[in-house]
Amino acid sequence: MLHDNLAVNEKGHLTIGGLDTTELARIYGTPLYILDEDKLRANIRRYTGAMAECFGGDSMPLYAGKALCFKGIYPVIESEGMGADVVSPGEIYTALAAGFPADRLYFHGDNKTDADIAYALEQGVGCFVVDNEAELERLNDIAGRKQIRQKILLRITVGLDPHTLEAINTGRVDSQFGIPIDTGQAAEFVGKALACEHLELLGYHSHIGSQILESDPFFDQADILLAFADDMRKKYGFTAGTFNIGGGFGIRYTEADEAVDIEGNIHVIAEHLREGCTKYGYPMPRILMEPGRSIVGDACITLYEIGQVKTIRGYRSYITVDGGMTDNPRFALYKSAYTVCVANKMNEPADFECTVAGRCCESGDRIQEDVRIAKPERGDLLAVLSTGAYNYSMASNYNRLTRPPIVMISGGQHRLAVRRETFEDLINCDL
Ligand code: LLP
Repeated sequence: MLHDNLAVNEKGHLTIGGLDTTELARIYGTPLYILDEDKLRANIRRYTGAMAECFGGDSMPLYAGKALCFKGIYPVIESEGMGADVVSPGEIYTALAAGFPADRLYFHGDNKTDADIAYALEQGVGCFVVDNEAELERLNDIAGRKQIRQKILLRITVGLDPHTLEAINTGRVDSQFGIPIDTGQAAEFVGKALACEHLELLGYHSHIGSQILESDPFFDQADILLAFADDMRKKYGFTAGTFNIGGGFGIRYTEADEAVDIEGNIHVIAEHLREGCTKYGYPMPRILMEPGRSIVGDACITLYEIGQVKTIRGYRSYITVDGGMTDNPRFALYKSAYTVCVANKMNEPADFECTVAGRCCESGDRIQEDVRIAKPERGDLLAVLSTGAYNYSMASNYNRLTRPPIVMISGGQHRLAVRRETFEDLINCDL
């Protein structure tokens, strides 16, 4: 199977974490997200273990909540010793409501409003990742009025172009995120930050993109950041003690994707940095990383009930499921590849070619095109694998569909972590 927590039982049913998916669908209904907490923790430990070994000290991974944000995930993140990257007041609110320590939050965003800034300061958010000069000024002002000295990182663009999707490539000079080194603006940004009385500059942040399967871009990023930090030391006498190198390791969506060697990559990045530090005579910085997708992506699957099986003669067959772009918009947005299978017919030959469509009034509402699955019938259960990242967090109520629940499983037990939305929820804000 694509991931080590998936298997097929004696009934020919797909299991996750040892639990029969048809049984979970019977108990909780469909569509349904099933998040395997044991897999989630194993993923986290790949980062915490390798980072402690390679970087030591107070280096740590921060969980990028944009990948999957709900209250129940934060106690897991916290107990594993991670920090968290939050990108909106809503994410801050969710993390704090779950009891996550504010001082382990890193607040991102390319347009933090004055209200966002004030809220985050009041909540005691540990560190702001400042995106631009306007934010720097406002933050300094508001922190001053509140008599706070706020820790910050500056978001720097290193000018790299990793081979990933256009929409999720953020490291290039021409980007709405951060301030570029190449144009000389990042150096000015550092000068301004150092002059801010109410801000304490810890170092730099850079994120180059997402779903990156190769390691080279991360080594280049480390080199560029270090050269920049050394320049800033010469220019301002400021030695940045923290580098946040962002998120971005990819995961396996299909058999064609190679598994990313996270620990191996962390080792090589650490080696690279250490050599660079020796070359420049620069003290090894504390390293932060912000993985999202590679923490939750392969820990979750989605289950749907198949409704229609429709063959358009001379064209193709469609199967329609009881969810779609409302709970997984990634095919509609990016043509993302997924592995799909009929969860109650795992031992039958996967020889029925079809396109999996959702239930919205929109021809773009597809989960996957031209896949081969076991011959489907109305009432069968369709599983989509690797749906932990950017599915629930990007879900919508388009066509007034209700968002599915999240069931967390661990040690052979299951529990509801997010309940299914109701019709009531749909009209809750309507006056
Ligand atoms: N840090 C920053 C500043 C980011 O912008 C992101 C992702 C991450 C960390 C986490 O990256 P990850 O480890 O998850 O690759 N909706 C798109 C992905 C957008 C990624 C946005 N930023 C998708 O569904 O593929």
